[in-house]
Amino acid sequence: MLTYQHLKSKLGICSPRKPQVMDTLLLLLLVLMFVPPSLNMVESRKAPISDYFEYSAVNCRAYSASLTDFGGVGDGTTLNTKAFQSAIDHMSQFSSTGGSQLFVPPGRWLTGSFNLTSHFTLFLHQDAVILASQDESDWPLIDPLPSYGRGRDAQGGRYSSLIFGTNLTDVIITGDNGTIDGQGDVWWKKFHKGDLSYTRPYLIEIMYSENVQISHLTLVNSPSWNVHPVYSSNIVVQGITILAPVNSPNTDGINPDSCTNTRIEDCYIVSGDDCVAVKSGWDEYGIAYGMPTKQLAIRRLTCISPTSAVIALGSEMSGGIEDVRAEDIVAINSESGVRIKTAVGRGGYVKDIYVRRMTMSTMRWAFWMTGNYGSHADNNYDPNALPLIQNINYRDMVAQNVTMAARLEGISNAPFTGICISNVTIQLSKKPYKVQWNCTNVAGISSGVTPEPCMLLPDQGPEKIGVCTFPEDGLPIDDVKFQTCTYARHL
Ligand SMILES: *[C@@H]1O[C@H](CO)[C@@H](O)[C@H](O)[C@H]1NC(C)=O
Ligand SMILES: *[C@@H]1O[C@H](CO)[C@@H](O)[C@H](O)[C@H]1NC(C)=O
Ligand SMILES: *[C@@H]1O[C@H](CO)[C@@H](O)[C@H](O)[C@H]1NC(C)=O
Ligand SMILES: *[C@@H]1O[C@H](CO)[C@@H](O)[C@H](O)[C@H]1NC(C)=O
Ligand SMILES: *[C@@H]1O[C@H](CO)[C@@H](O)[C@H](O)[C@H]1NC(C)=O
Ligand SMILES: *[C@@H]1O[C@H](CO)[C@@H](O)[C@H](O)[C@H]1NC(C)=O
Repeated sequence: MLTYQHLKSKLGICSPRKPQVMDTLLLLLLVLMFVPPSLNMVESRKAPISDYFEYSAVNCRAYSASLTDFGGVGDGTTLNTKAFQSAIDHMSQFSSTGGSQLFVPPGRWLTGSFNLTSHFTLFLHQDAVILASQDESDWPLIDPLPSYGRGRDAQGGRYSSLIFGTNLTDVIITGDNGTIDGQGDVWWKKFHKGDLSYTRPYLIEIMYSENVQISHLTLVNSPSWNVHPVYSSNIVVQGITILAPVNSPNTDGINPDSCTNTRIEDCYIVSGDDCVAVKSGWDEYGIAYGMPTKQLAIRRLTCISPTSAVIALGSEMSGGIEDVRAEDIVAINSESGVRIKTAVGRGGYVKDIYVRRMTMSTMRWAFWMTGNYGSHADNNYDPNALPLIQNINYRDMVAQNVTMAARLEGISNAPFTGICISNVTIQLSKKPYKVQWNCTNVAGISSGVTPEPCMLLPDQGPEKIGVCTFPEDGLPIDDVKFQTCTYARHL
């Protein structure tokens, strides 16, 4: 198949950054070349328009195809698993010759789980809905994650995620705000009834991979977690809307898990669990696997999570969590703003955490740290594996309608240290708790915080209002830039 990119390269034109005029001329030429003289004007005029567009991505592709080229039917009832998988299997041959992009046109595309390939872009039109099958047989079983030792819902295997990729490099899932609908209600019911033999699937999981972009999509009603990059590096998650009923079980938004160099930006999340949950494996399995999550930036996140946290660190943190920078966060009607969850037996660490410019309204707790979260993979955890929680910085925040400022509960023989809270104003709700700061087994400082913090975080005086650190250097992932890509497919 001759593609638009091939035509461009034949004509010796390399992708210009602002390609509109040149591309329009080329497109016209392409249309004229491929329209047989017998074709009437009506057909030739309507044909090519939807098959050319521009979008932004960290990498562009040479080869383009549409799901309909592989027998896809977007009627909401035809199963498209084979169409997706044969399209991607076919396109994997272009990995080393410029990569490929698969277009999902307007329509409702029912599918089971399918696997991605390297140097590949999946692009969803704004009126495209990928509908997850509700039939368990459309979800192959895969092994539990080695750093968890078992599935989270059940022992043994787990269902492969709807969109799954493993051992990949350079993979992009994006669109013009198209939708991926997990149709999770059947899974939520099974979870509540205890009817699950295996762990529920996620919407998107990318494992053992590098150079990943997930952007400009709407994810709704995931069976469980929405976006799960694991054992991966160099990840950009941008412009994602995630919606799930606030009472749906474990519908976490974005869960970077044993990942390095990740940037999560401009996301809007309403869900039944944490909006962003940073993880790195569970108890003895996570300790043995030993892969931390580090170099994580979270920016411009808006979150509604009435039963959980805006940003959670843990509870599975046995491989360690370090160097997390979160800023410009809006929290509405959520249980807590930042929550550190751990337990004896987890081992690992949560250190060098920096959060600034968070605006919170209607919260149960602004800050929450728990050292007795419990929830073990099995009874073989090491009771001497104590987590290290150190250098936690929160600054420049305002909150209103808060029931309790902070509940900070460390571990008696492993206190949480180096906690710094400065320039934080918390306005209380009409019926606040009597004790606003309940601190046990923690140590640190504060400055310019209302209501007045506990004795374990002594006030350093108003002149120290800027005392808590926030790193001013960027992360390596901040050097990754978007470019303008084109999709063009001749008919
Ligand atoms: C997708 O990848 C998983 C894990 O490698 C594998 O078990 C499964 O068979 C793959 N599915 C297809 C359709 O290739
Ligand atoms: C994927 O990568 C992991 C970690 O490097 C490795 O253990 C595994 O064998 C790889 N799987 C495949 C199918 O290449
Ligand atoms: C994407 O679609 C969702 C759901 O319809 C909507 O709430 C959101 O505002 C849209 N985002 C953009 C950037 O258009
Ligand atoms: C304050 O929070 C309570 C719940 O604690 C909620 O019912 C109420 O609507 C909130 N008020 C405002 C003004 O947001
Ligand atoms: C305190 O935080 C607010 C944002 O809540 C910010 O506008 C202000 O500049 C900060 N003050 C100092 C001294 O850093
Ligand atoms: C403070 O927290 C401890 C647990 O760390 C709990 O046992 C105690 O009841 C709490 N006190 C109040 C007044 O909430």
